[in-house]
Amino acid sequence: MRTDPAGTGIQSVLMLSSLAVNRPRPTIRAMTAPSLLREPRFARTLVLPALAPAGPLTSAARLLAEALLGDMGNRWRHTQGVAERAAGLAGPLGVDADLLTAAAWLHDIGYAAPTVATGFHPLDGADHLTRYGWPIRVAGLVAYHSGARFVAAAKGLSELLAVYPDERTVLADALTYADQTVGPAGDRVDPDTRYAEVLHRHGPCSLNALVDPDRGPYLRGIARRVEHLLAAAV
Ligand SMILES: [Fe+2]
Repeated sequence: MRTDPAGTGIQSVLMLSSLAVNRPRPTIRAMTAPSLLREPRFARTLVLPALAPAGPLTSAARLLAEALLGDMGNRWRHTQGVAERAAGLAGPLGVDADLLTAAAWLHDIGYAAPTVATGFHPLDGADHLTRYGWPIRVAGLVAYHSGARFVAAAKGLSELLAVYPDERTVLADALTYADQTVGPAGDRVDPDTRYAEVLHRHGPCSLNALVDPDRGPYLRGIARRVEHLLAAAV
């Protein structure tokens, strides 16, 4: 059982279960509310810290993210930081706070072992969400966050990614900006520092380095757009 050291939390008891890893590709269909309790593996008791004001998507996303990533150290700390960052951006940017914050909680669930299929975390995360009935817009945001389409092309996964909507909105920019301004341990960083750290971590022969001529300017463009909007909102 997790503990809540601050003693301010609410307790949520979830019985989640595991899923088959080698599963068929998802098909796009009308999505309804998240259905966490249909997920078959993770029988686990969670005690969560107090939730910030949040809508139903955010609350469910936080539970699923903790079930999948809560034992993954820095990955979980990074996820918490991105969710907090996203929640803080929604108001100034005038976007749907529930949708943005939910996508932030879920953006890296494709790193969790039960979700891994292709090994490309934006796609595996989106597939997982689709399989379990999350709104297609959430899956699309996860699928394309932080310039995933460039790496997908280099991996030969563009067709699989293309089943998801690439909405290219301020909200999608905000998700990427949140991810690009939170470091691997959840610390707040500027986008250039974050991007340099990712390139260094993956190495000069990585696909990230290969797609840098396209992905780098794309991410810098998002940062400029978001920071312009934030400055105008002050
Ligand atoms: Fe991330």
